[in-house]
Amino acid sequence: MPYNFSVTKAVDEWRARLEKYSPEQQQQLVLLAENNKVLLADHFYQQMLNDPEANTYLSHDEVKSRLSLSMQNWIAGLFAATDSKELERLAAQQVKIGEVHARISIPVHLVLRGARALKNQLHLILQQSDLSTEQANQLDRLAADIIDLAMEVMSFAFSSSHERNSRAEEAYRLFAVSQNIASEKDRQLLRRSDEALYAAKHNGRNRVVVAGE
Ligand code: HEM
Repeated sequence: MPYNFSVTKAVDEWRARLEKYSPEQQQQLVLLAENNKVLLADHFYQQMLNDPEANTYLSHDEVKSRLSLSMQNWIAGLFAATDSKELERLAAQQVKIGEVHARISIPVHLVLRGARALKNQLHLILQQSDLSTEQANQLDRLAADIIDLAMEVMSFAFSSSHERNSRAEEAYRLFAVSQNIASEKDRQLLRRSDEALYAAKHNGRNRVVVAGE
């Protein structure tokens, strides 16, 4: 797959970023995300549904019935991975989401806008928490870095998938064009054989007429 290398690199960076924080800090972020996942997902979709550009890709029903839950799970799972295996699984999940978005052609800038809404809301939650300003700022930084890494993987998968879709569309277009050319040839052949048939009939029975060009 063309995006393997970048995903591996992102996983390495992800691990290196996490290693800068203590297991207690990582755990605090996991708890914070778990306890606020509903609020964060609500904020995300409220922003997206109020956004005239983004809401063309969303419906209230769809958000209520499944997207909100998908987003809550995404938020709760994003900070929970610690070892390489879990990080690889998490990166693979971002690839899949990028491909899902590409399939329905959601522009990357809207996905990034959504990520910004999540980061802003997380910032507010951290500022209003019982944590010291120093601790809150550190977790804020970690959370923003992890969201950015997820966006990197998602966007990369999006462009690879989009490129593949565009190539497939182009191949299909060329195929359709070549089919048209073929059927145009067929039509010409039919017309010429038709003309020859009528010429033969017109000039009397039992004769062979060769079609002209
Ligand atoms: C931080 C940004 C975003 C995240 C983390 C995110 C996350 C997700 C997740 C986890 C899924 C489920 C994928 C699956 O089926 O496994 C999904 C699907 C979807 N997302 Fe997003 N999303 C983001 C931005 C957006 C934006 C900005 C829009 C629209 C404006 C959007 C619209 C959709 C839609 C319509 C689906 C359902 C696609 C389908 O099932 O056919 N997403 N997203």
